[in-house]
Amino acid sequence: GIIGYTGTDGGVVDVLMTGLSGLEYRGYDSAGIAVANSSLAVHKKQGEVSALEGALPDESLGGVAGIGHTRWSTHGPPSDANAHPHEDCTGKVAVVHNGIIENYQELRTELEAGGHAFTSETDTEVIPHLIETAIETGATPEEAFREAVHRLEGSYAVAAVFSGSETVYTARNESPLVLGIGDEGHYLASDVPAFIEYTDLVVYLEDGQFARINPSGIVVTDEQGAVVETAVETIDWDPEDAGKSGYDHYMLKEIYEQPKAIRQCLRERVHELEGSVTVDELAELECGGPVQFVACGTSYHAALYGARLLRERGIPAQCFLASEYDVESIPVTKETVVVGVTQSGETADTVSALRAANRTGATTLALTNVVGSSAARECDHVMYIRAGPEIGVAATKTFASQQVALAMLSRVLSEECSTEFVEGLRDLPDQVQRVLDGSTVRAVAEAYEDANAYFFIGRGYNAPVALEGALKMKEITYKHAEGFAAGELKHGPLALVTEKTPVFALLTGSNISKTLGNVKEVEARDAPVVAVTDSPDEVGQYADYVLEVPEAGPWFTPILANIQLQLVSYWVANRMGRSIDKPRNLAKSVTVE
Ligand code: G6P
Repeated sequence: GIIGYTGTDGGVVDVLMTGLSGLEYRGYDSAGIAVANSSLAVHKKQGEVSALEGALPDESLGGVAGIGHTRWSTHGPPSDANAHPHEDCTGKVAVVHNGIIENYQELRTELEAGGHAFTSETDTEVIPHLIETAIETGATPEEAFREAVHRLEGSYAVAAVFSGSETVYTARNESPLVLGIGDEGHYLASDVPAFIEYTDLVVYLEDGQFARINPSGIVVTDEQGAVVETAVETIDWDPEDAGKSGYDHYMLKEIYEQPKAIRQCLRERVHELEGSVTVDELAELECGGPVQFVACGTSYHAALYGARLLRERGIPAQCFLASEYDVESIPVTKETVVVGVTQSGETADTVSALRAANRTGATTLALTNVVGSSAARECDHVMYIRAGPEIGVAATKTFASQQVALAMLSRVLSEECSTEFVEGLRDLPDQVQRVLDGSTVRAVAEAYEDANAYFFIGRGYNAPVALEGALKMKEITYKHAEGFAAGELKHGPLALVTEKTPVFALLTGSNISKTLGNVKEVEARDAPVVAVTDSPDEVGQYADYVLEVPEAGPWFTPILANIQLQLVSYWVANRMGRSIDKPRNLAKSVTVE
């Protein structure tokens, strides 16, 4: 993620470091800042933002303008040299970049032939050298920045500072970038949490736009350099929402925020008296044809749940991993509705699938948490899940909110809704609270901390939850975990089942007898069984541990069951001392394909 600041209050370094902490979920294998004085002060370090903090000099860096970066490696491994900002040979310009420069090899070869010496393996480093080349031919800093950006192919949110200047130059293409307007100065960042502490007034840049910010103002221009009128939006997040509020980890805080998140998602959409569900944002959405979901990771699991709900209403619905969505080979017509499920709205695979869908003329809908995100702006329609900011890399409350939003979507698209469904939605926040208040997972975590692997099985609406349970476990414990549709276990994975592989069985709803059959198969192989169930009397005798959830019917019990699994993963990871909020090798939002 990138951050930039220019202001009159002398607090450049503080603003940059706060910004980097707020962006750390986007990558945390190295970080760096550059502050512009008569010369540039550049400090960068492999490791988390705290490592950079420790490496900063005691004396003030001064300056009015600066940029910063927190990295998730794409080109070149994490190292001090590969950390951003990158400079040109003269040390007069420093650049931070998020995205991938696809033609960087070609540019690097050309620049090296022209005598430029490179100090890193990154694609980004071509940018300061391109700027330097333009400056040598007489261009102003702004002209040089534009010239350099015009040479880039690929995705970028890029920012540059020059020695002796108070201006930060920035541009975007297919990578998120937002500007902030404060009393003391102006900001730019990959995402709002970077500067929410200072201002809630923002301007979202569009692909192809440039901006220059200095202490007195911001100017946005188009590709040709013409000034563009921009809309200033107000973000309604409370900065408190983005703090840990006394929890040891953001993930735990966010797990416990699920009743609130679901309430926000339902607000003014569920009408008990009329027995109906309406979503104002979707008033213009018409669904005449099949629905195709595109999503990645946890959001894909939510999409699997949503697709099932739609099929149950008679609407043909399919799910695609966004990175595998290929409009050339998947029939898409003008009647098709393509729904991108993406918490951040910035996942490059998902945004790219939505772009492809738009090119075919299909109707597109973004189901996202982030107002003004790339997916929201790419699509014809957008439905916000309203979960509030999620900082922990492992998605928790946003998954629950996605499930609830998809449940509502299924009723909006099928234009009918039973009282039972409305009441089920209405009761969910309280039922989630009951799960959180009564959970006994810590004993389970203690019992199975040393397991060789963890398996999760579930059928029907519980099958996506089994996949999600395993993904969560992998992400934060780094241990082997797999989720299966319960019936598939006997078709191969059963070979892996031993007394050292606990099996978490989702046993909820009216039809649990078949899954119980699968439980007996694993028990016969000595595997410990943890039942997540709303029918403890019926299944308790087959399980070593029972994690209970309230009865909420076939549609909603899986949402409750998932919360037990989130807590199991959290407490196993906690016992193992893992870096729960920032697991190794992962980033909250992967903005490269
Ligand atoms: C990353 C995160 C996952 C997340 C996925 C999709 O890989 O580590 O937790 O599920 O992106 O993110 P999205 O923002 O599109 O929901």
